[in-house]
Amino acid sequence: MIQKPKGTKDLLPNESYKWQDVEEKIQILFESYNFKEIRVPVFEHTELFLRGVGETTDVVQKEMYTFDDKGGRSISLRPEGTAGVVRAYLENGMGSLPSPTKLWYNMAMYRYENVQKGRLREFHQIGAELIGSSSYLADVDTILMANNIFKVLNIPNIKLNINSIGCPKCRAEYQKVLKDFIGKNLDQYCDTCKTRFDKNPMRILDCKEKRCKELNVGAPRMIDYLCDECKGHFEKVKQSLRDNNVDFEIDSTIVRGLDYYTKTVFEFIDGNSGLTVLGGGRYDGLVEEFGGPSTPAVGFATGVERLMEIYNSYNPNIEDDVPDLYILAIGELANKKSFEISEKLRVDGYIIEKDIMERSFNSQMKFASKISSKMLLVIGDDEINSNKAKIKNMKTGEETEIELNIESIKKLL
Ligand code: HAM
Repeated sequence: MIQKPKGTKDLLPNESYKWQDVEEKIQILFESYNFKEIRVPVFEHTELFLRGVGETTDVVQKEMYTFDDKGGRSISLRPEGTAGVVRAYLENGMGSLPSPTKLWYNMAMYRYENVQKGRLREFHQIGAELIGSSSYLADVDTILMANNIFKVLNIPNIKLNINSIGCPKCRAEYQKVLKDFIGKNLDQYCDTCKTRFDKNPMRILDCKEKRCKELNVGAPRMIDYLCDECKGHFEKVKQSLRDNNVDFEIDSTIVRGLDYYTKTVFEFIDGNSGLTVLGGGRYDGLVEEFGGPSTPAVGFATGVERLMEIYNSYNPNIEDDVPDLYILAIGELANKKSFEISEKLRVDGYIIEKDIMERSFNSQMKFASKISSKMLLVIGDDEINSNKAKIKNMKTGEETEIELNIESIKKLL
């Protein structure tokens, strides 16, 4: 038997209704901030991610699903959403719309990762990108919206960590001191870190190798080298978060795994598992990197599989919808009537189950009970002839005799 590829998941009906529940709550929340949905292709030209996410990131260097298509173009499955959304923003001239542009998405992402708890190769992100504002107010609005995801889902015990990783101006200065620090022990770092030393020394701080982590202890911190503008911006973000009663901690070790970030970066951590459930930040250089005009932006994405784990642990009793009515039909005329009734009620939004197996009376009764139908309508030749039938409330056992027509049935549903 062929099995699913490693790092992928089947979403079965016993879980999919919970996903829908969460997706709907988040969509309503995003719409309350006037964000609009965008959907972009699953695959893009590899070049987009090289330039957007960064050539020296793990995501691009080690984790991307890249292949040549039949026309010889290098194509990659999207490892994240921001690059594609920004490409679409530019390509579709969205910059000429009233600014800021607020976009959200719910899309599958692909990363060839070492599979472990909370780390899949196909996973889903619900994200938001606010394009066009350089103000600290946009950072705060975005973080508040992210924070509210956990409120609308009744998820406590989530920690917010924030940091500032500055702008290209102050980062140049910082990179010099960082290189001085790392350079002293460069020969002891892993090969990947060595290759990143010249191109992107900050990436070395994000290395997962135990030895590299040890060597990084005591490294200079970006936050101590912020220029006046970045420092001022960060101060305002922090103050405004306090004004809005949002608890946070400064974590000067957050560098994020993608290269486009500038200034504010943030992560929401699950207090129980320690997993990062949502990550984001400002990326003021990305639109320009893709050939557009200088345009500031800020956004985030939450990993839906991780979010669902936590949601389920706090909301164990959420139940799926059950049929409003099971129509038990015996005989040809009854089957005709059953179609007539079910078709009308389904179009009106009721969940209707009926016999399509030509089962016996008893088997149909058993089935109606197994699928937890709320009500049961029995139709046989007698009911057709008298145009009267019994509807049973499956929970209380109460039976009501009704005229066999839609209006009478609806009154009891
Ligand atoms: P990211 O931190 O790479 O950011 O991913 C965001 C979230 O996606 C993570 O916090 C995690 O919950 C989930 N995630 C990442 N990788 C995996 C995986 N292999 N398996 C399961 N879940 C995973 C971004 O992707 C940015 N595009 C976020 C952003 C939007 N920044 C600005 N705008």
